Amino acid sequence: MHFRKLVGNKCYLSPLSVEDAEQCTAWLNDLEVVRNLSRVSAVIGLDAEREALEKIGREHNYAIVDLATEAMIGVCGFFDTDRLNGTAELGIFIGDKAYWSRGYGREAMTLLLRYGFDYLNFENVLLRVYSFNARAIESYKRVGFREMGRRRRALKRERQFFDVIYMDITPEDLSGDA
Ligand SMILES: CC(C)(COP(=O)(O)OP(=O)(O)OC[C@H]1O[C@@H](n2cnc3c(N)ncnc32)[C@H](O)[C@@H]1OP(=O)(O)O)[C@@H](O)C(=O)NCCC(=O)NCCS
Repeated sequence: MHFRKLVGNKCYLSPLSVEDAEQCTAWLNDLEVVRNLSRVSAVIGLDAEREALEKIGREHNYAIVDLATEAMIGVCGFFDTDRLNGTAELGIFIGDKAYWSRGYGREAMTLLLRYGFDYLNFENVLLRVYSFNARAIESYKRVGFREMGRRRRALKRERQFFDVIYMDITPEDLSGDA
């Protein structure tokens, strides 16, 4: 069951729950999706994912749900939150590949960041992305993230080295055009 907590034009964000574990497990075993994430080298079974969701579901992690069909299409959230300094890191994946490059990622991140800046009092949100992930980088830039640096050749994937790009965003940077 999903709840319309943060609502946009295409999608809404609903608190992630253990009920979402089966869907997440399926996506996280799809190499085309998970090769973009650090979890590609983990074994992700249903029990482990249920446990993980029980833990992270109490923090600001959300299912991304298509408004038109009510289908869950992905997950996004904050982690490594520092309440004292108002910082956090953002993570996102759209597991349903039919929804890639249709603006859903941009809208979901904008909804999440607006909430983070307005109600969680964040001042700076960080993300890390692999240099081969052009779609993600483009989407992040459209949201308002800026590259702040890159850790060179810090990722070895598919027998090649890539950079890990660090991007950050402040409340003023957040683009309104999601
Ligand atoms: C990364 C992700 C969240 C982005 O969300 P999305 O909804 O697919 O992306 P958006 O539609 O918001 O933006 C993608 C942009 O990249 C562009 N794009 C797509 N493929 C591209 C490519 N190969 N090179 C450059 N730009 C590309 C699109 O045209 C679009 O730009 P536009 O809106 O100006 O036309 C989503 O694709 C995803 O979850 N991918 C798999 C997992 C992943 O990579 N997670 C992120 C890990 S850091």
